[in-house]
Amino acid sequence: MSFPIDLQRKLPYSVDQFAVDKAYRSHLAGILLPEGQITSRVARLAEEISADYDRKDLIALCMLDGAMRFFVELLYSEHMNVRFEVETLKAKSYAGDASTGNVTFSGFDFSKAEGRDVLIVEDIIDTGTTMRATLDKLAAQGAKSTSIAALLAKPERHQPGLQEQLAAHPLYLGFLIPDEFVVGYGLDYNGHYRGLRHLGVLNEEAFALAQTRT
Ligand code: IMP
Ligand code: MG
Repeated sequence: MSFPIDLQRKLPYSVDQFAVDKAYRSHLAGILLPEGQITSRVARLAEEISADYDRKDLIALCMLDGAMRFFVELLYSEHMNVRFEVETLKAKSYAGDASTGNVTFSGFDFSKAEGRDVLIVEDIIDTGTTMRATLDKLAAQGAKSTSIAALLAKPERHQPGLQEQLAAHPLYLGFLIPDEFVVGYGLDYNGHYRGLRHLGVLNEEAFALAQTRT
């Protein structure tokens, strides 16, 4: 399995170096990952998953809503070569940009996981609360195996014990990023910015604007 690409210590690109919709432009401090770089990394993750899951029938579990775009690019990649069923799960632990700690699930009948190989497809592992709750629930339902495809992780924010729990599962991880709130490529801030094609970091004005919207 390849190492995730480590971007923890820099914000490499300014907004004016890419074609960014002007509705988003003034809300961004910079671009962390241009779309093309994400696409190239996702292709590699698809290759790795295909190599490991040869001839297995997977449940590909898309964590809504943030992972939607990653899910589609990953599972429908020309480098992906596994049989899979699509399931979706909505986990709620966030209000605005703060994790609330407890996780509630909807949309997926967990009993379907019994005896099955499950691939969780998640946009970002932040504190890890959501991932841990999902892993626990799948284990309790008797999933045969559970692996994780996560586009992003913020190691500085991980809770104690998370690494140990993750280490027990195959982990296909795209990028390590700094402790910044990121949007785009499907990720949102209070429902906004999902349509930004690149992964960007919000600026102060964007957070201030959000205060006036609520
Ligand atoms: P965790 O439970 O703290 O790991 O948070 C996981 C969920 O919070 C992710 O699935 C995302 O939906 C959301 N999240 C965490 N960090 C960010 C971010 O920087 N931008 C957008 N959503 C985020
Ligand atoms: Mg999410």
